[in-house]
Amino acid sequence: MATNFVDAPVAPTPELLQLLDLLALRYSVAPKHLAPPGPNPGQWAHAASLALRAPDHGGLRPFRFVVVGDGERKALSELFALGAQQRGQGPEEVERARARAFNGPGLAALVARVRDDVPDVPPHEQWLCVGAALMNFMNALHLMGFGAKALSGASVSDPAICQAFCGPGERLASWVVAGRPARAAHPKGDDRASPVISDWRAGQS
Ligand SMILES: Cc1cc2nc3c(=O)[nH]c(=O)nc-3n(C[C@H](O)[C@H](O)[C@H](O)COP(=O)(O)O)c2cc1C
Repeated sequence: MATNFVDAPVAPTPELLQLLDLLALRYSVAPKHLAPPGPNPGQWAHAASLALRAPDHGGLRPFRFVVVGDGERKALSELFALGAQQRGQGPEEVERARARAFNGPGLAALVARVRDDVPDVPPHEQWLCVGAALMNFMNALHLMGFGAKALSGASVSDPAICQAFCGPGERLASWVVAGRPARAAHPKGDDRASPVISDWRAGQS
């Protein structure tokens, strides 16, 4: 189906309609409903390459993804536990925080680098790019057959965790867990477009 669309017909092909139908079925899947395996390195990289199709004013690439390999979960769990301790949480909460680092068969961090010194590209435009990158990343995982969910929580603001993932000027925007969905996705709400789209000055002329 690869095409540059230059001479593509205006009417969508059945393949494109199928793709749109598939995108409409992307729902977040919580870690407890994700089964192994998570994405392999090639699949993570493929999703990141789709994230690069996010609209990016100035070509700043204000995002990057960091995959946490299986062998690194233990080290992450120590950081999660330390963070909970430093927030003054009790032993049970600390153990819950430690366990959270093992959530999801696959885990990646989304790191944002949003600058406030770029003429013509204010921070909110860069954040839009980060969000669009996340969406493309998750849609790519979805089309590869993975369920995924963006998760933040206290850990994304934890100094030790941020230091472990971020360089100067960066912040931890979100975690992304991914794996095989262990149950069918079910529509949650009303996806009719009318509340979120209208014609400018409709009915005024
Ligand atoms: C950056 C970011 C962080 C999020 N963090 C959480 C979180 O910590 N806990 C949570 O339940 N949902 C969180 N969400 C929302 C879920 O990822 C998800 O979008 C929401 O449950 C709606 O589900 P849907 O994607 O199927 O519409 C976050 C979303 C984003 C974009």
